[in-house]
Amino acid sequence: MAKKSSEVICQECGTAYSKWQGKCDSCGNWNCLNEEKVNGEGFSNFKPKKKGSMLEFVPLSGAPEKLERMVTGIKELDRVCGGGLVAGSAILVGGDPGIGKSTLLLQACASIANLPQKPECYYISGEEAIDQVRIRAKRLDLDQSPVNLASATDVSDIVATLDKSHAAVVIIDSIQTMYLEEVESTPGSVSQVRATAYELIKLAKKKGFTLFLVGHVTKQGSIAGPRVLEHMVDTVLYFEGERGHHFRILRAVKNRYGATDEIGVFEMQDKGLTEVENPSALFLAERQGNVSGSCVFAGIEGSRPVLVEIQALVSPTGYSSPKRAVVGWDSNRLAMVLAVLEARCGMNLSSQDIYLNIAGGLKISEPAADLAVAMAVISSLTNKPLPADTVIFGEIGLSGEIRAVSQPNSRLKEAHKLGFSSAIIPASAKDKKFNPSGIKVNEIGNVQRLINWFQ
Ligand code: TYD
Ligand code: MG
Repeated sequence: MAKKSSEVICQECGTAYSKWQGKCDSCGNWNCLNEEKVNGEGFSNFKPKKKGSMLEFVPLSGAPEKLERMVTGIKELDRVCGGGLVAGSAILVGGDPGIGKSTLLLQACASIANLPQKPECYYISGEEAIDQVRIRAKRLDLDQSPVNLASATDVSDIVATLDKSHAAVVIIDSIQTMYLEEVESTPGSVSQVRATAYELIKLAKKKGFTLFLVGHVTKQGSIAGPRVLEHMVDTVLYFEGERGHHFRILRAVKNRYGATDEIGVFEMQDKGLTEVENPSALFLAERQGNVSGSCVFAGIEGSRPVLVEIQALVSPTGYSSPKRAVVGWDSNRLAMVLAVLEARCGMNLSSQDIYLNIAGGLKISEPAADLAVAMAVISSLTNKPLPADTVIFGEIGLSGEIRAVSQPNSRLKEAHKLGFSSAIIPASAKDKKFNPSGIKVNEIGNVQRLINWFQ
């Protein structure tokens, strides 16, 4: 029987086929089959050629190696990376086109290159020509920074060059433009992305430099190259933000060297990204007090408290089924809160359109926002504003109980710092040790008691 030279492999589940088809029979996904070269018998009959050597096992106990971290000088980036960059680690930075990935990384690169120990920094752009990067550097006032710049896409050249360098930081912008000649598919395809990232990550581990890979996000919101990249790197950061808003959030979704869900907040200005040290003040900047349907939620993003304004608008519907529109929060969660308000408080919301917005463009995923959302909805429905100096947090259970949430003290402290004088919190949340100097704490145990606030 003739030996196979290629096989068609499903990129989602790994099933091998002898010829291409549109749908994988095994996992049911469409357009996920890719032809891959194999040696000899094919993947399904893979036999190792050389005799394997013996592994050496060690006990679980033992002093871990101390991680050396390089502080970039951009505090918000350091925070998201877990306190600085770890040598030999690979960091994937994903985000929509035009959100500011190249700007952030050029700023980070220049900041590192200017550190007193003068680390060698390499910025390799596959998307933009040298001149374009130079124009950006000039705009950012970074054109005098000692960054090594190149425009290249052939990973063999990049690896050969970096192998001879003493690089401390390497930025590849973007991984979807990189290619290896040995891989017979176009740049950006799964095989190319996987192979080029593998070569670069291998080199980063060998030489001990920190590798940043820029990755584009697909329409579905994941980094292109179905998740393969996320598994290969140590850290995955998403750069998010609304086009119409000027601030940007860098969020860690995976981090082998630090906490996930940590965020860094930046503001995009004429001269690049500036760090926002007090995000709460920024998110509340345009708030108008004494308006019905608005309340302030004391949330936690990663390790720090962030106050945001939640706005609801309830108006009689003109449709047979009422409209629900949510920006910045989970629409299923809104449906649940509304169902609890109807079932436990006897409110009639089925004839009302409801719009919910997290002001400023922040995306919140915490269930702790339930209570604030419920308050905003009731406030809009009754057209009675909440006191402007009050913050709210708490999770709502299906039987109408208000559940405790994590870190109530940090939330209250942040509220106090920003001048709020009262808080509505879950009954079980108050930590007796906390002395809320100046903050009046109102404990609520059940949603039915919410209505009292508006009578
Ligand atoms: P860019 O870093 O090129 O985005 P990405 O690499 O994620 O595609 O940023 C592009 C946007 O940022 C562009 O629309 C212009 C804006 N911008 C500023 O507002 N100020 C600046 O100083 C810079 C460099 C860019
Ligand atoms: Mg870019």
